[in-house]
Amino acid sequence: MKTTLSITAVLATAAGALAENITIPATNGSLPAAGANGCAPGYYPGSDTVLFTVPYTYQQVLSIIGNYTNLTWSGSPPNSVTTNNSQALTTNDWTPGTARFYDISGAHVIETITTYSKPATGPYVEIHTLAPLTVAAANVSFYSDFDGQVWKPICNGQATWSNFTINYCATNATTAGQVLHMLHSTDAMTVGTFLGGQNFTSCGALAGGNGTASPSAYGGGNGTGSSGPSATSSPIPYTGDAVGRMSNMLFTGAVATVVVCVGMSM
Ligand SMILES: *[C@@H]1O[C@H](CO)[C@@H](O)[C@H](O)[C@H]1NC(C)=O
Ligand SMILES: *[C@@H]1O[C@H](CO)[C@@H](O)[C@H](O)[C@H]1NC(C)=O
Ligand SMILES: *[C@@H]1O[C@H](CO)[C@@H](O)[C@H](O)[C@H]1NC(C)=O
Ligand SMILES: *[C@@H]1O[C@H](CO)[C@@H](O)[C@H](O)[C@H]1NC(C)=O
Ligand SMILES: *[C@@H]1O[C@H](CO)[C@@H](O)[C@H](O)[C@H]1NC(C)=O
Ligand SMILES: *[C@@H]1O[C@H](CO)[C@@H](O)[C@H](O)[C@H]1NC(C)=O
Ligand SMILES: *[C@@H]1O[C@H](CO)[C@@H](O)[C@H](O)[C@H]1NC(C)=O
Ligand SMILES: *[C@@H]1O[C@H](CO)[C@@H](O)[C@H](O)[C@H]1NC(C)=O
Ligand SMILES: *[C@@H]1O[C@H](CO)[C@@H](O)[C@H](O)[C@H]1NC(C)=O
Ligand SMILES: *[C@@H]1O[C@H](CO)[C@@H](O)[C@H](O)[C@H]1NC(C)=O
Ligand SMILES: *[C@@H]1O[C@H](CO)[C@@H](O)[C@H](O)[C@H]1NC(C)=O
Repeated sequence: MKTTLSITAVLATAAGALAENITIPATNGSLPAAGANGCAPGYYPGSDTVLFTVPYTYQQVLSIIGNYTNLTWSGSPPNSVTTNNSQALTTNDWTPGTARFYDISGAHVIETITTYSKPATGPYVEIHTLAPLTVAAANVSFYSDFDGQVWKPICNGQATWSNFTINYCATNATTAGQVLHMLHSTDAMTVGTFLGGQNFTSCGALAGGNGTASPSAYGGGNGTGSSGPSATSSPIPYTGDAVGRMSNMLFTGAVATVVVCVGMSM
């Protein structure tokens, strides 16, 4: 037993030393080279998905999320996000290679678009990379080559379904999954809160929602608690507001991450 413990300690120290060679905060948005496990030395792969439905139209949702440098719905104060695509600030036509930069909760965030599609009838598809950063309050560092969002109209256009999926590399994949799940759940709920705070229950409950059009016909995930693809990815039931969300985290025991949830977005 004692031997096992000391081997674990040595491995943890070695992983920490290797991880130190990755520049944090990132300065130029680039991602480290992948090792055998798909991640840089000292980092381990993980994935998290949040599926959530809001009872608002796709156009309403776009009015909240459709500007890459406006992250008020994700907890960043107005005008705190910068970009190296100044033209798109006016045209709102965001393109691959565009990065946004912001500092929040001690982390310097650089997110560079790899896919961006925003047709008027949906779906909205946005994928960006996430340069290495550290969330000190949760003692975890991570980065991502796929941090994606899809929003699509469902229920005869009366509701909008979302899929936040991130594939990441982290110094602790479990902790990173908890942090990212909380951030993305809060983001999705905040979109609904900004638009009036109603909960989604079913298509049939919406005026004009056409009770015959089931959310699952559009890819599942209706915000009522359906499971995602892995243990860390089941949506946390909507508790109505941010305060309820915090209580929820306390109940699940992820106390360390509560500190970051006040102001961090991603
Ligand atoms: C970190 O990088 C330096 C060179 O920049 C290298 O000499 C050193 O061996 C690296 N450390 C680890 C643990 O990989
Ligand atoms: C970006 O920074 C990393 C170190 O963090 C460096 O290895 C890489 O060469 C830089 N890339 C560019 C394009 O400057
Ligand atoms: C914007 O920044 C990202 C990340 O550093 C970089 O990959 C991209 O080339 C930059 N684009 C422009 C137009 O400067
Ligand atoms: C940012 O988006 C919010 C809606 O989420 C909107 O009220 C606000 O006017 C937008 N800010 C700018 C500068 O466009
Ligand atoms: C996008 O948001 C940024 C920052 O909030 C703002 O400066 C810019 O004017 C907005 N662009 C459009 C087209 O609304
Ligand atoms: C912080 O995380 C590193 C890497 O996962 C781990 O080796 C270390 O023990 C952690 N420190 C604390 C205080 O939990
Ligand atoms: C959510 O998006 C991810 C990444 O694109 C995809 O692999 C997954 O199948 C999607 N989940 C659902 C339920 O559509
Ligand atoms: C990862 O974090 C979890 C708590 O989120 C902790 O129980 C576990 O020991 C950590 N693993 C490592 C290798 O540090
Ligand atoms: C949304 O649902 C929660 C319970 O899941 C409830 O507490 C809250 O009052 C509901 N909000 C509205 C506007 O109905
Ligand atoms: C929500 O989705 C789950 C599975 O995706 C389904 O079993 C359930 O009936 C749906 N609930 C509503 C209210 O549509
Ligand atoms: C409900 O949707 C179905 C499938 O799209 C369609 O066939 C049907 O006519 C719609 N009913 C109403 C009342 O809009």
